[in-house]
Amino acid sequence: MMEENKRKTAVVSENEIKKQQELCKKVASVISKRYAEKPLACVVTYGCQQNVADSEHIKGMLNEMGYGFTENRTEAKLIIFNTCAVREHAEDRVFGNVGMLKSYKRENSDVIIACCGCMMQQKHIADKIKQSFPFVDLVFGTHVVYRLPELLFNALTKKKRVFELPDMDGAIAEGVPVLRDNDRKAWIPIMYGCNNFCSYCIVPYVRGRERSREAADVIAEAKELIESGYKEITLLGQNVNSYGKDLSPSVTFAQLLKSINELDGDFRIRFMTSHPRDCTKELIETMASCDKIAKHLHLPFQSGNNRVLKAMNRHYNREKYLELINYAKELMGDALSITSDIIVGFPGETYEEFKDTLSLVEEVKFTSLFTFIYSPRKGTPAAEMEDPVAASEKGRWFRELTDLQEKISAENMKKYAEKTFKCFVYGKGKLGDNYIAARTDGNLIIEFEGDENLIGTFQNIKVTKPLTYVLKGEIERN
Ligand code: 5AD
Ligand code: SF4
Repeated sequence: MMEENKRKTAVVSENEIKKQQELCKKVASVISKRYAEKPLACVVTYGCQQNVADSEHIKGMLNEMGYGFTENRTEAKLIIFNTCAVREHAEDRVFGNVGMLKSYKRENSDVIIACCGCMMQQKHIADKIKQSFPFVDLVFGTHVVYRLPELLFNALTKKKRVFELPDMDGAIAEGVPVLRDNDRKAWIPIMYGCNNFCSYCIVPYVRGRERSREAADVIAEAKELIESGYKEITLLGQNVNSYGKDLSPSVTFAQLLKSINELDGDFRIRFMTSHPRDCTKELIETMASCDKIAKHLHLPFQSGNNRVLKAMNRHYNREKYLELINYAKELMGDALSITSDIIVGFPGETYEEFKDTLSLVEEVKFTSLFTFIYSPRKGTPAAEMEDPVAASEKGRWFRELTDLQEKISAENMKKYAEKTFKCFVYGKGKLGDNYIAARTDGNLIIEFEGDENLIGTFQNIKVTKPLTYVLKGEIERN
């Protein structure tokens, strides 16, 4: 029987994409009449790489509409805050920064102020913007980014505020213009949303359920980027290991990686983020066997204690995590760099339990860590749990963890002496005038004396002297 080629995930129709292209032209016509010179837009991005990638699409659309770009908010005619909801601190910064534009808007009523991204997708936040920030003209959610031309057209021409925050899972939109921040490094979102519902995490509520782009679309985008000179492609998803489960026929993430690895050219493939529950041995074997995949595994473990992991709804335990790490080390040895995310002070965590996180950090010897103090997120199960440990106490645990990692990083640095790494040379160095800087797969910086025309190439570099935060090296000549 033929397999039915039916996709479970909705796709935005070509007609809809065409409609948005037409609206780009309409916006262009409105702003060219309104302004003698090309108006500037300022896009401010908070949060993770998915948001960075969304902002590159936002800039792509704005570019088509005829906007130029500035980093300076007070010379912009359009300011867009692309927000993050993962921790309270990020939200406070957004409110502070949006609030500061009140007088600018009062003096420049033609300026459009917009907010989008994960934070807006929470009802209590959108309500607060509606009531307390009346000078914000446009608010749109994570599922309708591709409709920016239409929404901006409405904000510019109708004398009313525009709020577009549908709650349903967004469809996949292909063919949305993109303006990338960097001409060597590119982000490719391969899937959107998350099905995991870790008990502390807001992401599934603000980005919806997992949905994957077609492998052919991802591969075509990678090919085009490599052909136009990109050297580093990072595949993005909240949980890349579940890629393809909603496609028909289904494709695994490892298969997608292999197809990209087979493309012609000298480039590196990176990916983030992996979830230990779905990280397979097949994926680790694929990393080890594909020459173009960076030997860097970002595998967040969040806590080293099994009771806490269960309360976090993570669906793996410390033993399973270590098994994966040890398998990856076995296959990739010294070439492998491992990084992780950790939450300190999850509700109900005791100091004894936190010590299991410390011992796991000690055991794995991560290249670097992203450490966070738990932040309650409204609407998540963890926000309802008892949280008796004082913030000051959590702060002490946090410092104990970062001190430990600093000690490990310093020991790691010493171990790199005399080792050779294949590195991407990305720019001028800081150690002296004739130094240039390169990055290893594991994001270590090695500076060496060399010619600037090596920038943009891959080179084998031998570490001659580890310093505190960078390594000093020299090009290995064979
Ligand atoms: N509080 C603190 N950190 C969090 N993270 C996600 N949600 C929270 C929260 N409520 C961290 C996790 C995740 C990273 C992106 O942010 O470590 O892996
Ligand atoms: Fe949040 Fe967990 Fe999904 Fe990561 S995997 S985005 S931590 S729910």
